[in-house]
Amino acid sequence: MTGVTREVLSEVRSRANIVDVVSETVVLKRAGKDFRGLCPFHKEKTPSFHVSPEKGIFKCYGCGEGGDVFAYVQKVRGLDFPDTVRDLANRYGVQLVESPEQRQEQDRRQMIRALYEEACVYYQSLLSHPEEGSFAREYLERRGMDAAIIEKFRMGYAPNAWDGLITYLTQKMKVSQQFLEECGLVRQKQGASSYYDLFRHRLMVPICDGDGKVIAFGGRTLGDDQVKYLNSPESPIYRKGDHLFGLHLAKEAIRKNDSVIVVEGYFDAITPHQFGFTNTVATLGTAMTESQARLLVRYTDSKRVFLSFDSDPAGQKAVERGIETLSQIAEGVGIELKIIRIPGGKDPDECLRATEGPGGLEGFQKALEQAPLIVDYEIENAINGIDMSMHTGRIEASRRVVPILSRIKSASARMEYIRQSASLLNNREEELLADVRQFRKDNRLDTDSRQSPFQSNSGGGYQNRGNYQGGGQQQINFQGGGGSGGGGAPKKFKDKDGKWKVKPAPDPYSEAPMPRKARDISGAGLISAERQLLAHYLVSRDDLEVVSRALLEWDLITPEHQEIKSAIEGIGTQFNTMEDLQYKLMDRLAAEEELRMPLTEIILKVEEIRKQDLPVQVVISDYKGKILLERLKTVINRMRQLLGMSNDDVQIKEIMTRINELNHLNKVELVSARTLEDLDDLKRKIEAVETAYHL
Ligand code: UTP
Ligand code: MN
Repeated sequence: MTGVTREVLSEVRSRANIVDVVSETVVLKRAGKDFRGLCPFHKEKTPSFHVSPEKGIFKCYGCGEGGDVFAYVQKVRGLDFPDTVRDLANRYGVQLVESPEQRQEQDRRQMIRALYEEACVYYQSLLSHPEEGSFAREYLERRGMDAAIIEKFRMGYAPNAWDGLITYLTQKMKVSQQFLEECGLVRQKQGASSYYDLFRHRLMVPICDGDGKVIAFGGRTLGDDQVKYLNSPESPIYRKGDHLFGLHLAKEAIRKNDSVIVVEGYFDAITPHQFGFTNTVATLGTAMTESQARLLVRYTDSKRVFLSFDSDPAGQKAVERGIETLSQIAEGVGIELKIIRIPGGKDPDECLRATEGPGGLEGFQKALEQAPLIVDYEIENAINGIDMSMHTGRIEASRRVVPILSRIKSASARMEYIRQSASLLNNREEELLADVRQFRKDNRLDTDSRQSPFQSNSGGGYQNRGNYQGGGQQQINFQGGGGSGGGGAPKKFKDKDGKWKVKPAPDPYSEAPMPRKARDISGAGLISAERQLLAHYLVSRDDLEVVSRALLEWDLITPEHQEIKSAIEGIGTQFNTMEDLQYKLMDRLAAEEELRMPLTEIILKVEEIRKQDLPVQVVISDYKGKILLERLKTVINRMRQLLGMSNDDVQIKEIMTRINELNHLNKVELVSARTLEDLDDLKRKIEAVETAYHL
């Protein structure tokens, strides 16, 4: 298995939080320790789909689907396992390890992350430095930032020096200046080999990923630098347009409020947080991208997005330029997009801090409540300032409104807006309708083959984001990872040498004795008993020891369960905590589709067992008792068959003796077996007969 090592799986698993990954396609609500939502794998109206971030698994109690983060992505996107790992690895910055170069690249990214984190610590420490940070602290005070919000956003100060960060990082982290330049933290002097800090005398605001890891900075000038905000360049760990500023701090509130406020600037996000609007994130001065829109709606059920643009002329221009794309994104992603008209200042920061006029906390709150839908906003803007009492004014107004109306996707909504606009424009409804029809025809808006670029493919859940697939030449060989996938695929199992075989369908007419493994011991009782046993391996070290000793010479009936058992035995003592053991087991078995369902059930059982505090010995003897009973019955039946086939008197006599012994085992010994040793004894006796008669 090249490329995807257990380390890679484990690394991806630890970075790709299952709640976040599932949230890309399912709106999850917190339910105690877990999250709940509508199952994406079957139709349902009440949520029976559970995600446990603690255990790293999902499980639908409606349709039974379950597994880990890999299983989820594989299932929801219809990928095979290697592609799933590749996809998640790329998205979460884990390099598949195939060559020394790639290993190096992975280390490099890890180093870059560490440097950004360390730089953040450095800037923070300077902000709190009595002398160095005083100017920046006064600035923040003037802007009304309190200590808590400064801490929450991890703001800092880049000193007024050429080599503050360079000196700090090269000493502390033992990296070269050239490497710092590659990270985007420092720059090289033109035509010289020396370097200087990128950020100088700036208020530093770290940009974080969804997990709160620092991946870039924005630095606001505290002097008279022409560039008000200097931002980190893109780097191996930071791609503009893929992140939203403040998302890691807003996630929970977005979920709770079932809505999100999107603003343009650093302080326009920070200030609302200080005023209690903790569901605020920022796009940082660029138009919202599709990937940002998708990030946004991960956490809201009703997908309510409030968008605020600066209300200065530049901000308005931006709205006008971006609004068509925005409407498209909104419709594609299914967002209910409302535009906030900021009162009492040019942006949310100014608005909230305004002490007089229409702004302030109340003003902002009211603006949220009264925010018009993007279409209404567009229409109002389009006719703003036009004199409707003039004939020419009305013509101009309808000229501007028609394209807006035409782009409304839903026919009924379009009709509604046409009606409304007609009365607004003092126009006849039919005329406006005719104009809209013409416009739609001219612009081919009616032929709906034109799928919005933001619409998800019907099949795959969400779009194949080309840029995530970059550098994906890795070859991965997976045993059994192949593309069976489909529901009717034949069951596969591994033979003794670990090769995958297709399990033969049992032939009911066959005279030959059934292969041992496929012996049909009916009853779900045994299956669940086996899962219970396997769960005990994961409950505690004590249970693990007891159960593994007790099952030393016992193969489990279900091949899947036996497979899981072997995997646990394979890990041996190479784990730290019980949780670690669970994840190591998941990593080992991640590629084995057949094992996902049973493994999920087993993991879910662990907690039950801990709660019930059922002694493992009881479970084991119960299981062994059941198995032996079934086995005895089978052996006795086979012996009777042999008896019927034999014409050798000696042999007949011998078989009859055996049968009597077996019956005794069944009726007396099995019933009176007290200890696990008794049961093991019994097992040996049964096996002796099986061997002697080649059963
Ligand atoms: P604004 O110019 O509206 O600044 O830019 P602001 O956020 O109100 O800044 P303050 O309140 O004066 O501190 C909005 C956003 O555009 C990006 C930043 O993300 C900024 O917050 N921007 C702006 C830059 O990246 N670089 C710039 O030079 C200016
Ligand atoms: Mn501002």
